[in-house]
Amino acid sequence: MKDKIVVGIIGAGSMGAGIAQVAANADCDVLLFDNSLEVAENAMIKLKKVLIRLVEKDKITHEKSNAIISNIRLINSIDQFKNADLVIEAIVENLEIKKSVFSNLEAVVGKNCIIATNTSSLSVTNLASSCTLPNRFIGIHFFNPAPLMPLVEIVPALQTDEVVLQKVNEFIKKWGKTNVIAKDTPGFIVNRIARPFYGEALRIYDEGIADFNTIDVAMKEIGGFRMGPFELMDFIGNDVNYAVTESVFKSFFCDPRYKPSFTQKQYAEAGWLGRKSSKGYYSYHEGKIVNEFSKPNKNELEKIFKRILVMLINEAADALYLNIASKSDIELAMQKGVNYPKGLLAWADELGIENCVNDLDNLYKLYHEDRYRVSVLLRNMAEVNSTFF
Ligand SMILES: NC(=O)c1ccc[n+]([C@@H]2O[C@H](COP(=O)([O-])OP(=O)(O)OC[C@H]3O[C@@H](n4cnc5c(N)ncnc54)[C@H](O)[C@@H]3O)[C@@H](O)[C@H]2O)c1
Repeated sequence: MKDKIVVGIIGAGSMGAGIAQVAANADCDVLLFDNSLEVAENAMIKLKKVLIRLVEKDKITHEKSNAIISNIRLINSIDQFKNADLVIEAIVENLEIKKSVFSNLEAVVGKNCIIATNTSSLSVTNLASSCTLPNRFIGIHFFNPAPLMPLVEIVPALQTDEVVLQKVNEFIKKWGKTNVIAKDTPGFIVNRIARPFYGEALRIYDEGIADFNTIDVAMKEIGGFRMGPFELMDFIGNDVNYAVTESVFKSFFCDPRYKPSFTQKQYAEAGWLGRKSSKGYYSYHEGKIVNEFSKPNKNELEKIFKRILVMLINEAADALYLNIASKSDIELAMQKGVNYPKGLLAWADELGIENCVNDLDNLYKLYHEDRYRVSVLLRNMAEVNSTFF
């Protein structure tokens, strides 16, 4: 038995560099490869700066910082992954490029090496099919920034061996992460269930019911969310958030529940990306919002909050109904992956399942759009007066 697990990482961009830090922190031997050596070298320079800051703040010792750095080796060819136990790919989100990387990789690594992808939006099953041994392939979806975000979605492909799933689950737990297991479907758990947080907020704005700030205040003050939907979209970037929404929508064969918003598309097209371009839904100066707003009406806030919340609950209930993840993993994923103040299913119990169904049915009656269809699970539960917990 080897002392140290050898972990290969392909791609030294935001995610690859972050995952390298997490694995090195857990005392793995990390081999980091990027097809741009400059990117990989810059990633190491950045990591060293981060570690110096952590030492200065007494978050880690000087010895630990040195150990993390010495656990990471930059390599200039994937041939050096020969003895890897696990290789995680974190390159550009492109199916064909990823598939060709996996075929090349399989020619190098041993037959027991686990191959993983950090993809956010591609089918893990499709990527696995590029391998001659697809049963060793799995999705390991970290959140950004990987060293800080506790959640990891483990996504077995249709072909993944149960033993591989268990091994990966153990590895990643040892890296100090909170794991949830998600079925290989678009958006996995978090990016699927969170869609209405953005989509319904944009819809409310598009209908002229409220301005960006009022909707944000509703979710923060009434709901206890750390950020409102528009602040969060500005933080993520309208280009990135729009691309995820569009990809989830297309992958669900254009289910109207995930329909993207013209407003967001146009903001992305205009280059109003959010914080990174100093203008999005809000305008920013030195990182601070500079717009001024009138005080929203309390009654209006309640209505907006309830509408977005029941849409989120409906999505969480449907994910459970369709076996995307277990009840506890759905709750954990939304609290650890996107910092929701409560699990959505527990929130449904608190509101009353029947009330959630009535609110959704009222939206459906008003719009006659499939977007507002109630999950069968919620409807069945309301009929027999049951609760999630
Ligand atoms: N950024 C996020 O918030 C986030 C979160 C979770 C998952 N992801 C996923 O992680 C992956 C990487 O995303 P990112 O944000 O780190 O991207 P990024 O653009 O920051 O980094 C990608 C890196 O891959 C390198 N690369 C491209 N093709 C390569 C190849 N053939 N071989 C080796 N290196 C190659 C590039 O040089 C670049 O450094 C994507 O699949 C993305 O969907 C991203």
